[in-house]
Amino acid sequence: MFDLHVFSQRREQFLAQLGGAAAVIPAATMVKHHADCDYPFRQNSDFWYLTGFDEPDAVALFLPHRPLGKQFVLFVLPKEPGIEIWDGSRWGTEGAIDQFGADIAHPIDELPKRLGDYLKGADGIAFRVGKHPKVESLVLRIWSDHLDSLQRSGSAAIPLVAPCPFLHRQRLRKRPEELERMREAARISAEAHELARNFARPGMNERQVQAIIEQHFLQQGARGPAYSSIVAGGDNACVLHYTSNNSVLNDGDLLLIDAGCSLVDYYNGDITRTFPINGCFTSEQRAIYEVVLASQEAAIRGICPGQDAEQVHAIAVRVMVEGLLDLGLLRGDLDSLIEQGAYRHLYMHRTGHWLGLDVHDVGAYRLGEHPIELEKGMVLTVEPGVYISDRLPVPEGQPAIEERWKGIGIRVEDDVLVDEQGADVLTKAAVKSIDLLQR
Ligand code: GLY
Ligand code: MN
Ligand code: MN
Repeated sequence: MFDLHVFSQRREQFLAQLGGAAAVIPAATMVKHHADCDYPFRQNSDFWYLTGFDEPDAVALFLPHRPLGKQFVLFVLPKEPGIEIWDGSRWGTEGAIDQFGADIAHPIDELPKRLGDYLKGADGIAFRVGKHPKVESLVLRIWSDHLDSLQRSGSAAIPLVAPCPFLHRQRLRKRPEELERMREAARISAEAHELARNFARPGMNERQVQAIIEQHFLQQGARGPAYSSIVAGGDNACVLHYTSNNSVLNDGDLLLIDAGCSLVDYYNGDITRTFPINGCFTSEQRAIYEVVLASQEAAIRGICPGQDAEQVHAIAVRVMVEGLLDLGLLRGDLDSLIEQGAYRHLYMHRTGHWLGLDVHDVGAYRLGEHPIELEKGMVLTVEPGVYISDRLPVPEGQPAIEERWKGIGIRVEDDVLVDEQGADVLTKAAVKSIDLLQR
């Protein structure tokens, strides 16, 4: 876990980028699962990144137009023993100041009456509309009142802007203390994959394997899975977001597992491995696995500062399409196939995404015409895959798929840190070479 200083450095950087606009960043709220039972609490990553405060129904204000020592204001749930006996203790306003470094703190129910005063004098309001309906109605009312007042006050209208461009640019570049946590998430996630592979046997149910993985996450002190674990035997692996995890594992099938943990401070791992359930690849499975692995390893080799995620995807696609051409699963000229996307019935997703406090982490991939260049400290996944089934039509001019290939779904996914040398594969402890996957 980080110390207070880390969060205060982030706030300083964020405040400096706001350019006089006041930012309103709400915490997450509890969400009902059914009846009166809630989903486990999941903090809003932007709010967490700036505060380290892990309670619902709070709002953070960042007020660069006010003097130093009055710029970070937290509205929080007040201490209430009658509620805390049910839901657990709260930090309250005193804790918000003493433990989380707020300059000023108020009970959250005072937000409607105080927000307008705090925003007065700002050059703009930075608030993400569309995500936080309760706070949004307050912010819009204040902004609307301000617009109404211009006719008589003679002052200029202040804009409502999105805080994401500044904040997400900041979150995209991970600092050393964050990378330490991402290494920890990668370590636990990779260990869980190793345990799962050594445990899985024909005849088991997918969710028995899921249990081994998620047990390890919890045993290692993680919060739990970062996303719904995918444990997909055989043809289930061809459904990209398969999460029902309730089929029997068949002798002769592959097992695709896409699972990663989320730490208590929300840093995530995201790993996919695919291996034969009985410890032995068939020749078709092996052939496709070799293509996917070659594609993934080439893409990882292509990672270094100055490259971009689109180039990494392009490398993965090229190697993949070459391999599928060699196997007769595609037909035609390599460049035309790539240009026309005539491989997308077999490989229909992108090669990766940013990874951080969100699994599909924030940060632009391109600005207008310009792809964002990879820089030291960025973390991305590299996860090409091939999924062979009847679910998508074969494009005109491409060969019909022979039965022997069907039901093969393979993805290999690693979490990769961009460093000076190129790629540092954080998840390499989860084995992926054919030799090591066979028993
Ligand atoms: N597990 C989500 C993803 O790989 O993007
Ligand atoms: Mn994944
Ligand atoms: Mn991923």
